[in-house]
Amino acid sequence: MKAKITATGAYLPEKILTNFDLEKMVDTSDEWIRQRTGIELRHIAENQPTSELAANAAEDILANSSISASDIDLLLVATVTPDQPLPATAIFVQEEIGAYNAFTFDVNAACSGFMYALSIANAYIVSGMVKNAMVIGAETMSKIIDWSDRSTCVIFGDGAAGVLLEPTEEDEGVLSVVLHSDGRYSDLMRVPAPGSRIPCSKKVIDDRDIYVKMKGNETFKLALRNIVSVSKEALDLAKMDFSDVNWMVSHQANRRIIDGVAKRVNLGEGKAIVTIDRHGNTAAASIPLALDWAVKTGKIKKGDIVLLNSFGASLTWSAAVVRW
Ligand code: COA
Repeated sequence: MKAKITATGAYLPEKILTNFDLEKMVDTSDEWIRQRTGIELRHIAENQPTSELAANAAEDILANSSISASDIDLLLVATVTPDQPLPATAIFVQEEIGAYNAFTFDVNAACSGFMYALSIANAYIVSGMVKNAMVIGAETMSKIIDWSDRSTCVIFGDGAAGVLLEPTEEDEGVLSVVLHSDGRYSDLMRVPAPGSRIPCSKKVIDDRDIYVKMKGNETFKLALRNIVSVSKEALDLAKMDFSDVNWMVSHQANRRIIDGVAKRVNLGEGKAIVTIDRHGNTAAASIPLALDWAVKTGKIKKGDIVLLNSFGASLTWSAAVVRW
């Protein structure tokens, strides 16, 4: 038994923030952002919680599938920007779409969150515990970004997307998944407060500790190395190598990371899916947003080998090989 992706779906909030808009907010330039990151614009959720973005993506997945909300067995939401600490964002999504026969929970593995959730859903399906699973990555990064910090505010965006997984007895679907984490790097990217370590206070707000802090340059170097090695691990498990890959769908953190990985592994021209130019880094939503775009534009077709890979705080990295 394998788990096959039978539908994708996505949602992006309406408001668009361009690099030129950011020029008016912090000391930056369209040229710097394009050259250093590949980003041109990002979507921003103004008055919408993460669950609303996720529910809209879920409706799109359902519209592209042959099941209805009441058929969903397992509903996972990967996010680092939950609606609130308790309950899980997935609970609100369940309510919004009426998936009352599902059990639901959130997964937090930062920008690798979708991949971690995909691996959980895969395991549940392969073991026979569920007959289908919806996996959504959803983020409102704009709510945890310090809009006065040019080193982070130009990078992130909001959005939601996901997939439906169903069982198959054919040699298709998820062929391998590899996950890694390393807590020794926990300070590379973090939101220090509020939490049980540093509870909410006026001081944490005044010190701007409620926003993302990132050591971008160190993260960049680790991302390149680790994405290459974990992708090789996943391909080895599937008894394949990089020459078998039709499409690489990576976490969209930086265009230079995606190009760097593609070059190092001799992926071949045009095989890396790139959406960072118009989405920015949407953390757990980035891989399913790119995947959904590649499916809907007819790039990814039945039988294609798709390599998914991710890198996130602090530190998580992963890869999966999927036969579409
Ligand atoms: N506009 C203009 N200049 C900026 C800037 C901005 N928005 N942000 C930083 N700079 C400046 C810095 O101050 C620095 O100036 P200096 O040389 O005078 O000190 C210079 O640009 C280079 O900064 P650096 O941080 O070394 O840039 P970089 O090439 O590493 O690019 C990132 C920064 C964040 C785009 C890049 O490191 C990155 O993408 N990292 C990985 C992010 C990631 O994967 N995150 C975790 C997983 S989601």
